[in-house]
Amino acid sequence: MGRNMALPLVMALVALVASLPSASPATAGTAGAFDNWLSANQKDFAITQALYAKKAVGDTGNSIDESLAKAEDNKTTFVVDPKGGGDYKTITAALEAVPEGNTRRVILDLKPGEYREKIFINISKPYITFKSDPKNPAIIAWNDIAATLGKDGKPVGTVGSTTVAVESDYFMAYGVVFKNDAPTAKPGAKGGQAVALRTFGTKAAFYNCTIDGGQDTLYDHKGLHYFKDCLIRGSVDFIFGFGRSFYENCRIVSIVKEIAVLTAQQRTKTIEGAIESGFSFKNCTIMSEGGGDIYLGRAWGDSSRVIYAYTEMSKEVVPVGWDGWEVKQPESSGIYYGEFKCSGPGSDARKRVGWAVDLTEAQAKPFMGTHYVFGDSWILPPPTGNSPPSKKTSSGGATATSPAASPSSSPESASSASSPKSASLASSPESASLASSPESGYSAGKSKTKKEL
Ligand SMILES: *[C@@H]1O[C@H](CO)[C@@H](O)[C@H](O)[C@H]1NC(C)=O
Ligand SMILES: *[C@@H]1O[C@H](CO)[C@@H](O)[C@H](O)[C@H]1NC(C)=O
Ligand SMILES: *[C@@H]1O[C@H](CO)[C@@H](O)[C@H](O)[C@H]1NC(C)=O
Ligand SMILES: *[C@@H]1O[C@H](CO)[C@@H](O)[C@H](O)[C@H]1NC(C)=O
Repeated sequence: MGRNMALPLVMALVALVASLPSASPATAGTAGAFDNWLSANQKDFAITQALYAKKAVGDTGNSIDESLAKAEDNKTTFVVDPKGGGDYKTITAALEAVPEGNTRRVILDLKPGEYREKIFINISKPYITFKSDPKNPAIIAWNDIAATLGKDGKPVGTVGSTTVAVESDYFMAYGVVFKNDAPTAKPGAKGGQAVALRTFGTKAAFYNCTIDGGQDTLYDHKGLHYFKDCLIRGSVDFIFGFGRSFYENCRIVSIVKEIAVLTAQQRTKTIEGAIESGFSFKNCTIMSEGGGDIYLGRAWGDSSRVIYAYTEMSKEVVPVGWDGWEVKQPESSGIYYGEFKCSGPGSDARKRVGWAVDLTEAQAKPFMGTHYVFGDSWILPPPTGNSPPSKKTSSGGATATSPAASPSSSPESASSASSPKSASLASSPESASLASSPESGYSAGKSKTKKEL
C-alpha cells in the first residue's frame, strides 16, 4: 500500500524535475540545455503574470486595479511653488498634508524651479503624482553620498544617500528632474554612491523624467516600474536593484571617461521576491558623454536578468558587453542577459561573453512591452495639460515653509537590500578591468551585512 501511494508522488517529482530548467544552461554550444533555460524564462513569465494578477485586489490582470480606479475617480491637486504662489512651498510640506492611508490620487503640481529637498514618501501614502513640465521642469536635488554621516553619526549608506525615495505604491512622475548633485566619485573612491531616485513601492510610472547622478543613480529597488521617455545619467552601476521594470524610449547616458556600467540587476534566489525581477529596455539609446567604455550590465544577483531590445548602442559599449562580477560561473548561475535587434556600433553581438544571449523574437517577446510589468492593471497616461485648480481646503499652514526633511533610511528597505554575499570582485580579467568596484573596500559601517553597491 505504501508503495502504491508513493508512486504518484515519485512520478510527480520526476515530472517536476523534468520541468525545471537545467542547472547548467549555457555551456557554450550545448544548445538543448540552454533552450530549456530560455523557455523556462518564458514559463516564468506566465507564472508570475498569474501571480501578480492574483495579488492585486479586485484585479483580473486585464483591467485597472479597483483601488487605483477609485483613487483616480477622486483625484485632487496641490500646487507647490517654491516662490510662494501655491498651496505649499516645499514638496515635503505638501506630502505631510497627504493623510496616512491615503486613498485618492494626489497630484502635486510642481511649479518650475529648484527644490532643494531630500524626500521620503512613506508606504502609507500611495497614489502620489509629481507633475511638472518637461520643458520647464521642477528639479529636485540633494547631494548626500553613502559616506555622508547621518544624524546618528554613521554613514547613511547607499539607501540613505537617496534624494527622492518612494516607498509607496502607485507613484507617478511626469517631467520631473531627480538629481543627486554630489561631486562624481573618483573611480575606486569609497562611499561615493549617490542615489538620485529610489523606487521601492510597486506600480510606479515615470514619464519624461530625468534621473541624474553619478555612481548608483537610480535604485530600481523593488516592485513593478515603468520608465518612458526618460533620461538617465550616471557612471557605475547606475541602474541597480531588483525591480521588475520596463524602460521604453529612454536615453541612458554614461557621464564618465572611465568605465561605466549601466546596470547592476539584483535578481537572485536568496532575496524573497527578487527572482521575479529583471530590467527590460526597449527602443532605448545608450551613449557616452564622457567617452569611457560602457558595460551593459554586471551581475549583482546570481540570477541577474537584463534585456535590451531595439536599442541603439554607441561605440563605447564594449564588445564583450557584460560582466559576471563576482558570480563564479555566470554560464550556469542563472544569469539571463539578452539582446534583440539592437543597432549601432556597440551592438555587435559576435564578441559578447558566451553566456549572453542573442534572443529570438519568441524569447524576447515576454520582455518587450508593458505586459512585462503587468501594466494593464496599473499603467495610466501621464497627467499632461493643465491641472484643475487646487482643491486644498484645510486651513492653516497652506503656504507654510517646512524645513527639508532628512529622513534616515527605513529599516524595512535596508533589510530587504541585504545580500548574503559579501563583496569582493571576482578575479576574472574582465571584472578586474572594472577595478574600482563601487563596493569593494567600503567598510565605514561596522558590520557589513549588506552589500553596498
Ligand atoms: C474622496 O476623498 C476624500 C478625502 O479623502 C474622501 O473624504 C471622500 O469620501 C472621497 N470620495 C469618494 C467618492 O471616495
Ligand atoms: C516626452 O518625451 C517624448 C519623447 O522624447 C517626446 O516626444 C514628448 O514630446 C515629450 N513630452 C513633452 C511634453 O515634452
Ligand atoms: C523610439 O524612441 C524614439 C525616441 O524616444 C521615439 O521617437 C520613437 O517613436 C520610438 N519608437 C517606437 C517604435 O516606440
Ligand atoms: C511611515 O509612517 C508610519 C506612520 O507614521 C511610521 O510609523 C513609520 O515609521 C514610517 N516609516 C518610515 C520608514 O519612515
